[in-house]
Amino acid sequence: MPEPDQSKLRVLLSAAMIHERIQALGAEIHAAYPEGPIYMIGILKGSWIFLADLVRAIPRHVRVEFIGISSYGKGKTSSGEVRLTKDIDASLEGKDVIVVEDIVDTGVTLTYLIQLLQQRRPRSIKVAALLDKPSRRLRPIQPNYCGFTVPDEFVVGYGLDFAEDYRNLPDICVVE
Ligand code: PRP
Repeated sequence: MPEPDQSKLRVLLSAAMIHERIQALGAEIHAAYPEGPIYMIGILKGSWIFLADLVRAIPRHVRVEFIGISSYGKGKTSSGEVRLTKDIDASLEGKDVIVVEDIVDTGVTLTYLIQLLQQRRPRSIKVAALLDKPSRRLRPIQPNYCGFTVPDEFVVGYGLDFAEDYRNLPDICVVE
């Protein structure tokens, strides 16, 4: 299998910029919550690197869970055809929950997930997204904690993929 072609990549957000922003987000989240653990739920797969760095920027007890969501084919459109492929292990009843996303695009994934998790009666539920691409939004949902707003370009790296490649790039890059 050939190596992924890196010649068409342009750095949009450097690893240093990402690190600095996540430290600020972690401090903001820590200050916003009363004592007690925050249940951080990462959406597979794209959020895992962001989640790993974000939890280390929050100086308190957190619990980490992962949830899997699948869309039918590439048709992740206003039809909202998404389904759960992997559930979390913990009960969320009475808990403070933050859903952690790498990018909010159409908002279909998050809208589905928030509705699902609300049924489990958490005390609070918010969204932390590293990237927000509001120009693509089909659902009226906004992350409560947002790293960066990005233009409507295809971005990879720091967990985000193109056909499963590039997730391990330390920077976030535009594919040109
Ligand atoms: C991406 C991303 C979000 C979702 C956002 O996941 O990680 O979960 O799409 O899109 P939306 O706002 O239009 O719903 P993807 O389906 O590419 O899976 P991955 O995280 O495994 O790469």
